[in-house]
Amino acid sequence: MRSKIVAGNWKMNKNLAETEALLTELAAKLPDTQAEVMVAPTFVNLAAAVHTLDSSVIEVIAQNMHFAESGAYTGEISADMLLNIGIDTVIIGHSERRAYFGETDEILAKKVKAALAKNMRVMFCFGEELDDRKSDNHFKVVESQLKNALFSLEASDWGKIVLAYEPVWAIGTGETASPEQAQEMHAFIRKTITEAYDASIANNVSILYGGSVKPANAVEIFGKPDVDGGLIGGASLVADDFVAIIKAI
Ligand code: G3H
Repeated sequence: MRSKIVAGNWKMNKNLAETEALLTELAAKLPDTQAEVMVAPTFVNLAAAVHTLDSSVIEVIAQNMHFAESGAYTGEISADMLLNIGIDTVIIGHSERRAYFGETDEILAKKVKAALAKNMRVMFCFGEELDDRKSDNHFKVVESQLKNALFSLEASDWGKIVLAYEPVWAIGTGETASPEQAQEMHAFIRKTITEAYDASIANNVSILYGGSVKPANAVEIFGKPDVDGGLIGGASLVADDFVAIIKAI
C-alpha cells in the first residue's frame, strides 16, 4: 500500500517567528488523518521547525540540497547538514529550481543519487510547461524528466522516492489541472515506471499532485485513484487552508 502524503512547500516565505507560529497553529489544528503530513520551511528556519514540532505528527523536510558532501559551494546545504538537524526528506527538482537556478536533469540526477546515498527520502518534482501541453508534448516531457533523473536508479532505491507531478502552468497561477488531467498524467507516470522497472514499483510509489491545490478543489483531485496526495504551495501558508486540504485526503 502506498502512502498518502500532504506536503506544504513554504518556498521563500515566513520568518522565524512566523514559522514557529504557523507550526504551532498547525499542530494544534491537525486533524486525525491517514496521510503523512510534511512541511518545508526555508533553510534558516529548519532547525527551529524541528524543535517546534513533534516529528511523528508533522515531518519537517527540506526544499533543496546540494549533491556534494561538503566543500567550497558558497550558499549551499549538504545532505549531512540536513540529517544532522533531524531532516531526512528533501524536495529535489522543483520547477522553480529548474527555471530560476538552472537545475538541469543532469544536476537533479546527481542530487537524487547523493540524497539516496545518505538514505534520505527524495520528493522528486517534475512537470511540463504550458507550451508543452499546448503542443501536446506533455507526456513526452514528463517521460524524459523521469528517465533522465530517475531511471538509472536501482529498483531497490524506489522505496525512498516520492513523486510530485506539478504542471508548471498550474503553479501559483490559480489555474489547476483538472482532476481528469491529473489522473491521466499520474496513470501515464505509473505506466512509464512499469515499463522501465515493473508494476510493483509503479504501484508502490506515491505520486502527489501540485499546482494551485486549494480547499475548494482538493477533494476532487485527491479522489482520483492514482493521486496519492499533494504538494501544496500558497495554501500551505495558511493553517486553516492547509488543514482543510489534509482533511480532503
Ligand atoms: O511546491 C508547490 C507547488 O509549486 C505548488 O504551488 O500551490 O502555490 O500552486 P501552489
